[in-house]
Amino acid sequence: MTTTVRTLFEEATIHDRVAEMAAEIAKSMPKDVVVIGLLKGAFVFTADLYRALDRVGLEPQVEFLRLSSYGSSKESSGEILVSGNIPNNIEGKHVLVVDDILDTGRSLTFAKKTFEERGAAAVTTAVLLDKPSRREVNITADYTGFEIDDLFVVGYGIDYAESYRHLPYVGTVD
Ligand code: IMP
Ligand code: MG
Repeated sequence: MTTTVRTLFEEATIHDRVAEMAAEIAKSMPKDVVVIGLLKGAFVFTADLYRALDRVGLEPQVEFLRLSSYGSSKESSGEILVSGNIPNNIEGKHVLVVDDILDTGRSLTFAKKTFEERGAAAVTTAVLLDKPSRREVNITADYTGFEIDDLFVVGYGIDYAESYRHLPYVGTVD
């Protein structure tokens, strides 16, 4: 692709913030928390946060749930689709839902409700990026890495039409 990516958060900046988030999260989470990453966008963040949680003394399990709302366009379709199985071993467990970006709020709201309905003892949410100006559903994440303006971002697992996920930093595309 020929589009230019402008760096918004460097790799080291993200690394430090993820470590801080893990330290905060560990204060209010049981050792056997079940971390559930929302695919595909949160796979890199989930892997980093997961290992950071080990460094602060937790022994989490990990699951993934694949949701999509964007298709291949830059605008959300407004509809949440689940593909694959919904993790079903969470009854009585404390769940930490991890997403890359909190945008309209539909995905996180859907995920939270899904795990509450399936008997989680508690559902806590953590997102790397929050775009508060884009919210359509009233939800705030319990833990947020960085608040950003209404920018379209890529990298660190986040894509534009399946490109740019491999970038180790977060950047914006015009
Ligand atoms: P929500 O359901 O509208 O909150 O959408 C959240 C999901 O939309 C995120 O998990 C991302 O996968 C995707 N998304 C939101 N903003 C962006 C962006 O700037 N770049 C790429 N994907 C995005
Ligand atoms: Mg996503």
